[in-house]
Formats: sequence, C-alpha cells, structure tokens
Amino acid sequence: MEVDKKDEREAESSEQVVNPWEVSAKDGGKIDYDKLIDKFGCQRLDESLIDRVQRLTSRQPHVFLRRGVFFAHRDFNEILDAYEKGDKFYLYTGRGPSSEALHLGHLIPFMFTKYLQEAFKVPLVIQLTDDEKCMWKNLSVEESQRLARENAKDIIACGFDVTKTFIFSDFDYVGGAFYKNMVRVAKCVTLNKAMGIFGFSGEDHIGKLSFPPVQAVPSFPSSFPHLFPGKDNLRCLIPCAIDQDPYFRMTRDVAPRLGYSKPALIESSFFPALQGENGKMSASDPNSAIYVTDTAKDIKNKINRYAFSGGQDSVEKHKELGANLEVDIPVKYLSFFLEDDSELEHIKKEYGEGRMLTGEVKKRLTEVLTEMVERHRRARAAVTDEMVDAFMAVRPLPRMFE
Ligand code: TRP
Repeated sequence: MEVDKKDEREAESSEQVVNPWEVSAKDGGKIDYDKLIDKFGCQRLDESLIDRVQRLTSRQPHVFLRRGVFFAHRDFNEILDAYEKGDKFYLYTGRGPSSEALHLGHLIPFMFTKYLQEAFKVPLVIQLTDDEKCMWKNLSVEESQRLARENAKDIIACGFDVTKTFIFSDFDYVGGAFYKNMVRVAKCVTLNKAMGIFGFSGEDHIGKLSFPPVQAVPSFPSSFPHLFPGKDNLRCLIPCAIDQDPYFRMTRDVAPRLGYSKPALIESSFFPALQGENGKMSASDPNSAIYVTDTAKDIKNKINRYAFSGGQDSVEKHKELGANLEVDIPVKYLSFFLEDDSELEHIKKEYGEGRMLTGEVKKRLTEVLTEMVERHRRARAAVTDEMVDAFMAVRPLPRMFE
C-alpha cells in the first residue's frame, strides 16, 4: 500500500504540471500543449476561426493569432456568432501584482487584449489581484496594493483606451454587487471540488480557499453595476495564459446554476525562458527573462549570453547541417515579436539551412526587443498618477461600444 502511493507520487512528479502556481514540463522537456488541450477539455483555435476574426474586424489578425501564440479557446466561436449578429461582448483580463518589474511574458496578454479591444470596439475590465499575491507570496497588504498601482502603469502603457477600460484592485473594489456574486459562486463549490481543481490541501491557509470566487466573478457583467446596468446577458471573453484555465473551469461550471452565461476564453501558450522552452519565464531568475526595465545593453548581453541556440557548434558544421529551429530561442522570440511575416520566413529558411549564423539572428532579435522595450519605457514614463486614477475610477464608460 505504502509502495503504491509512492509510485503514484513519482509517476505524478514526472508528468507536466500546469496550474496557476506552477508550470513545468515533463522531465525538463517542452510543454505538450496538445496534451493540455485534451486534459483541460478546451478547443484548439483553428485557421477557420482566425479567418472569421479577420472578416469580422476587417483587419489583419494579430501576430499572436497568426503564429499560434493564442492557440486554445472555449466558446470563442459563440462570441463571434453573436458578434456577427450585432451583439457585442466585454473583455476581462488581469494580473497578479507580485513584482515591480514586468518581463516580456507578462506583456503578452495585455498586448493581445489591446488588439482585441480595438478590433472589436468593446469594453474591458482588468483585475489586479493584489489580494491573491498577498496570500500566495510573502507580501504585506500595503506592499501588494503598491505593486498593483505600479503594475497598472505598465498595463496602461500598453495603450488601452480610458473611455473603454476599467482597471480595479481587489482590495479597493471588492464589495457590493461584486461581493454578492462571490458569495453566490462560493456556495456552489464544495471543498472537495476546490481541492480537485486547484490542488489545495489541508496545509493551505483558508485565504487561498476563499480566493477563486474573486477571480471568477469579473466574468459576470452584474459584478460591475456602474458599467453594465441592465446588461446582465452581455457575454464575457477572457484572454489569458492557459495556466489560468482552472479558475475559469470552475467559473463555467457554476455559471448556469446562477443563471449566468459562461465566460468564453482565448488562451495563450507560455513565453519561454531565454535558456529554453521547458516552462515559462521566471520573475525570480533575472537572467531567464528580459524585463521592460532592461537597458539596451542588458538586452544585448542577455541575448548573446543566455538565449539557447539551435545553431551548430562550429561554422563548418552549421553550414552543413543548419540550425535546429525547434529548440532555438532567438527564432522563437522573433516569432512572437517580429511583425513582418516574410522577414520571419526568410530568417527561418536561411538560418535553418545554415546560410545565416546564430550571431546574425541574435542581432536582429536584439534590435526588435530593444525597440519594443524602449517604446514601452517611453509610454510608461508618460503615465501620470492622474491617468492611473482615471482608469481606476468607479465610473460609467461613456464610449463603451463605439
Ligand atoms: N491570477 C492572475 C495572475 O496571477 C491574475 C488574473 C486575475 C487574471 N484575473 C485574471 C489573469 C483574468 C487572466 C485573466 O496573474
């Protein structure tokens, strides 16, 4: 009996783990996203859906759609069906403010959400889960709240439209209609269920158990009476990384029992660490990630020193065999951030067939990322306290659907 349990645990630990608190691949390999889709029960975002987005928005789909960064969904097709008939929706995304400096991986959902807001002309709510990070990390209430405001500046710097966007901190906003929905959700979820979905155990403090309803209820328009009065049927679309899926599985499970619509989801893969693709960038290892606060010199050094290369050891060998693009981080990063499809194809072909060397690819990546980080830095410097207050004010959004 004892032995069986141990075997079970060992089998488990060699499996890939993806949940809101841990992302790790099987035996240091790559995350198997197909397996994740099966396990979570979401749908693959296929070509035909991307074509539909193009038709409905009359613009080229975002790079993150074209290149499969956002690769899975739940009921996104229903959101598009309704949109086609003239029914709008609202967007909901969020961030757990656990650190001062954001890295590139943190920006991905926000860059994509900004595109969705513009392309579909819809309102957006952004949740800053300062309460979550206070309970999971070693942060005081005050420090988590301070980080939430700091992170709000980075989020605003991504270019959101203040006339369509409400940003809120849980510590400030939870109450009223939002809290009523939290209690409704909480009553529908047993302890057994929560332990099954989130892996909570008897050792966890009860704050953790109480949190999932907080992340669930922004999916319901009635949680925002100042934004959506009388619009209880407005559908919600959540862009997020796929590690957040457990929260929304729970939300979708309880929604019908409360008479609410299930939120739809559009989910991304993880942005890999410089060292290679076996997890996501870690905020705790500064050399694994490029931060929005890095200087041009930092970026250059990190890419040259740490970006895992699929190139061969010697130039002769490289010319003969070409680079292994499957494991090459510079090419992977370019596929996230180099907009020009034909340039990317060119690089892949030349590098893959050995005519282009790692150094040249790294140089191009350095240019692309430096430009992006510089642009972000300028935009963030322009965000004033008044602007943060404006985004975070509890107010109606006058031009929500224009
Ligand atoms: N839990 C998320 C994090 O740690 C923050 C979050 C709250 C979120 N609501 C969300 C993320 C909705 C995506 C979508 O980062």
